[in-house]
Amino acid sequence: MPGASGGAGASLADRPADPVVGRVAPHESAALHVTGRAQYTDDLAARTSGVLTAWPVQSTHAHARISLDVAPAYEVAGVVRVLTADDVPGVNDAGVKHDEPLFPAEAMFHGHALAWVLGETPEAARLGAAAVRVEAEPLPSIVTLREAIEAGSFQGIPRTVVRGDAVEALRTASLVLEGVSEFGGQEHFYLETHASFAVRDGDGQYLVQCSTQHPSETQEIVAHVLGIPSHEVTVQQLRMGGGFGGKEMQPHGFAAIAALGAKLTGRPVRLRLDRTHDLTMTGKRHPFHIAWRAGFTGDGGLLALEATLTSDGGWSLDLSEPVMTRALCHIDNAYWIPNVRAHGRVAKTNLPSNTAFRGFGGPQGVFLIEDVLGRAAPLLGIEPERLREQNFYRPGQTTPYGQLVKDAERMPAIWSRLKEECDHDARRGEIDAFNRAHTQVKRGLAITPIKFGISFNFTAFNQAGALVQVYKDGSVLVNHGGTEMGQGLHTKMLQVAATALGVEAHRVRLAPTRTDKVPNTSATAASSGADLNGGAVKHACEQIRDRLAEVAAPRLGIDPGEVRFGGGVVRGPGAGGPELRFDELVAIAYLERVQLFAAGYYRTEGLEWDLDRMQGSPFKYFAYGAAAAEVEVDGFTGEYRLRRVDIVHDVGDSLSPLIDLGQIEGGYVQGVGWLTLEELLWDTGDGPNRGRLLTQSASTYKLPSFSEMPEVFNVHLFENAREDGAVYGSKAVGEPPLMLAFSAREALRAAVGAFGAPGRAVELASPATPEAVFRAVEAARAGAVERVASAPVGREASIASDAPAAREPVAARPEG
Ligand code: MTE
Ligand code: MOS
Repeated sequence: MPGASGGAGASLADRPADPVVGRVAPHESAALHVTGRAQYTDDLAARTSGVLTAWPVQSTHAHARISLDVAPAYEVAGVVRVLTADDVPGVNDAGVKHDEPLFPAEAMFHGHALAWVLGETPEAARLGAAAVRVEAEPLPSIVTLREAIEAGSFQGIPRTVVRGDAVEALRTASLVLEGVSEFGGQEHFYLETHASFAVRDGDGQYLVQCSTQHPSETQEIVAHVLGIPSHEVTVQQLRMGGGFGGKEMQPHGFAAIAALGAKLTGRPVRLRLDRTHDLTMTGKRHPFHIAWRAGFTGDGGLLALEATLTSDGGWSLDLSEPVMTRALCHIDNAYWIPNVRAHGRVAKTNLPSNTAFRGFGGPQGVFLIEDVLGRAAPLLGIEPERLREQNFYRPGQTTPYGQLVKDAERMPAIWSRLKEECDHDARRGEIDAFNRAHTQVKRGLAITPIKFGISFNFTAFNQAGALVQVYKDGSVLVNHGGTEMGQGLHTKMLQVAATALGVEAHRVRLAPTRTDKVPNTSATAASSGADLNGGAVKHACEQIRDRLAEVAAPRLGIDPGEVRFGGGVVRGPGAGGPELRFDELVAIAYLERVQLFAAGYYRTEGLEWDLDRMQGSPFKYFAYGAAAAEVEVDGFTGEYRLRRVDIVHDVGDSLSPLIDLGQIEGGYVQGVGWLTLEELLWDTGDGPNRGRLLTQSASTYKLPSFSEMPEVFNVHLFENAREDGAVYGSKAVGEPPLMLAFSAREALRAAVGAFGAPGRAVELASPATPEAVFRAVEAARAGAVERVASAPVGREASIASDAPAAREPVAARPEG
């Protein structure tokens, strides 16, 4: 990377004096968001005349062979065209794994889109879809993870992480604990549902505006389906009303339907899922079933962890394999575990195909170790936060997949900072006193850490591009490969460009993301949007700045290397010398025929990953954080309140503190939603609605709302935290804070435990809804949960096999 910009030897992380990065700035679209003027994909469609609407024909069977009679749809007034498999000129597939027929011959889940009807109005399309006759020959179906495990229904390539000898270590451990951790998925519930809008121009070029986190892949799939090269398709993304991972892989098929409709009718086509479509057709966070054994030394040292993780992939692979890889790379969380054997496999079920969701498997991996520690602490007679703290990585140690834990000392530093911030020791005493004084209401306080690996495990994705253009008036337009979904990426890129060019923030504007401006981009995902695109934007700006320095130098009477850019003014290093305004300099440069635009490129150096062996250093660095949560549980009902949450989180040297604060708060609350409130329920009986999603709207799917916010919520950014390997010393922030929500779950466990006798493990279902908490309180009161396997003898059989993993019998599905 040319480094002349910041002077000799400047690194990616160095900041100039008084940079625009690091300043508190509102989201660049905040005013548009709050006034309702922000434009989204379907707003563009709604303004277009002659636009057709696409509506799905959905399966009412979990699994069935189907045939369609579309003739009746054409009887409906306003129906223009019914799209079926026969219409596909290219490949009839919506995914990158080629296991997702866009128009299926078999319905693979209840809600599966079998065909699409184009109508003059949404109403015409809806009535047309209802008129299509679907002949269905039902086939056997699998609609729960346990059914899939029993039936041996798996897909994709299983992976195993191994270090040391877990089986042998479990034999020598002084405490061996075994269990099954099961937890549910999570609906993304982005405010903007999936939307695509396709137009074909007179030259046959397709412009697809799409609510996608991965425009380049959407472009590729549209091209495959249409059987044309990528250069005939441009995908544009202005902004999304949330993605959360749900728009990383799943928009492609919808974009392809809209483009196919535009091809066949010659008219613009708009496809926007209504909320029920979105809930019933698109994938969610993967639920997991994890069977495990953990071994400890007598004084609470983690010795060994052996586990089989099974995720529910749904009907097709989608991103299930990389999600499992990341899960396996996060079962250590922040803890040194010398002996590990963790096996991960993806179940195949007749449910929507599960996909990326904030954390991308990380939360599922972290769930395991936090559940193990939470259950083990009372049996070891050690306070949970002591147990966690004493097992933190020490400098020089490596993860089970072989990566050195860089900045390991940051974790205990954050931990003690948090304990001070939240007045931990004093409150613990108060809570104990409260619990002694109350028999029907108990409080719990818990602290949990997070260590999250930053970079895509898939090394090739760790690259990005940008196109920066300076106009003659000194205004700057930035294109980059990342997408804006509310997370503030554009705001950060604006601050990066203003810093690198030394101009005021108001001079810089962000253009919509387009595949014809920056090609072959990676998904905006893995929290690395700012790291990757920031690197590329900075690179582009520095090329322009270096050229401008050559123009400025003779006018300022100095060498080009001495020219300083800042605050829209160009000057020499000393005070009081001559100055040029940035716009003056740009105008001169234009007349001197100096190129005022540049393509930037960035790739993350130092990564290596061997997927087959599950070994290497896939991450550039780790993001660290810790949270302390206090809850109060009502023993009569299981209802609880989140009384207080304190967070200390490491974002490196923040690019944009207010944006980061919003990400930390939002991520935390979304994690609390997953772990305590949000419950996806499916009809698992053998009746006609088998496989149907029961929680089809916000009235039955409980999202966190204002009333569930912590009553006190303090977030602190860890200070002086420069990350040498990332743009202007910052760290990624989008996903890690979600996993701080384990503090709320562990606080619930502590409060539940206070209803029973000390020294007993508390098992807590997930999501820990009030009902689940109530059942756990009942169990604690009855002293029911006392399951300790002491020193094991002759337990050689590894549970990490392909046999049904649970040692506990897998509960049979209720028949009939
Ligand atoms: N924040 C908002 N407001 N909306 C979102 O959709 N997605 C999250 C996170 N924060 C999301 C969000 C997810 S899943 C990721 S991977 C990151 O943002 C992606 O953006 P980044 O790489 O720019 O952090
Ligand atoms: Mo985020 S789950 O990586 O889109």
